[in-house]
Amino acid sequence: MYNIVDKIKALKKLKNAIVLAHCYQPVEIDEVADYVGDSLYLSQVAAKTDADIIVFAGVYFMAQTAKLLSPDKKVLLPQIEAGCRMADMLSYKQLKDFTSKHPSIPSVCYVNSTAEVKSECDICCTSSNAVEVVKSLGVSKILFVPDTYLGKWVEKQLGNVEVITYPGFCPTHLQIRPIDIENARKKYPHALVLAHPECHMSVSSIADYVGSTAGIMNFVKNSKQKSFVIATEQGVVDRLKRDYPNKEIIPIKSNIVCPNMKMTSLEDVLYVLETEENEITVDNDIAKRAVRCLDRMLEVSK
Ligand code: 13P
Ligand code: SF4
Repeated sequence: MYNIVDKIKALKKLKNAIVLAHCYQPVEIDEVADYVGDSLYLSQVAAKTDADIIVFAGVYFMAQTAKLLSPDKKVLLPQIEAGCRMADMLSYKQLKDFTSKHPSIPSVCYVNSTAEVKSECDICCTSSNAVEVVKSLGVSKILFVPDTYLGKWVEKQLGNVEVITYPGFCPTHLQIRPIDIENARKKYPHALVLAHPECHMSVSSIADYVGSTAGIMNFVKNSKQKSFVIATEQGVVDRLKRDYPNKEIIPIKSNIVCPNMKMTSLEDVLYVLETEENEITVDNDIAKRAVRCLDRMLEVSK
């Protein structure tokens, strides 16, 4: 009889569906995924696909972003409860309170935010293109929501733009502390430390390389070095170990896991493909304004 992977593949074909999987998903999801990557890559795929159905193996804001970029497609989220704890830190009202304190300053929102938040911001960004996006504005001061650490990291990279940040953060990345990097350096003096910019500044400022999920994966791929300490979510560690068996991939800690990202199972993917439940919809007025913020980002990151 067919196993679950075969069943999903057959249904994808029958329904002209694709599965997009973020690199923080449980690694077995890749067996049925058509595209695996970071937030920027997956949103670019979602914007261009000819599929009728997009199953987004990720968290809510990612599936919602796919819907905004591909409004005519049916977008399904395998686990409707899978939110992003950072995105949940900024409601529409909190955004309005924040921006009203800083009138006339352009606002940049990290893609890890709700459609309502995107609808009120000038331009969106991901961790892959945040520096490029802020630079493209050509201004000396911006507001950045909701991730204070990504915002402050961008400020440091550019040097000539003041970044006023909202105090949001990723609870998963904030578990990584400077002492973890110091311990890893003692234990693995030959390894390079690679960190995600959602980490606290005290961590990213002492890493050898700071970059998005794709940035970290490409760094390992292209580096002549053999050993790497990975200061981001476990899914990146799992994929690097699978893809580069001859390199030494060391997780910074054993528990750097995003619980929401790990909710998805192959059974959930099969279930939504069979039933077409968990469809993502967005109010028309909000969608119209939010998509402007996303399109502007994709224009910068062509
Ligand atoms: P990237 O995919 O942009 O690296 O973002 C990480 C993340 O936290 C996704 O939620
Ligand atoms: Fe949100 Fe952090 Fe999970 Fe990414 S890792 S989805 S930012 S809670």
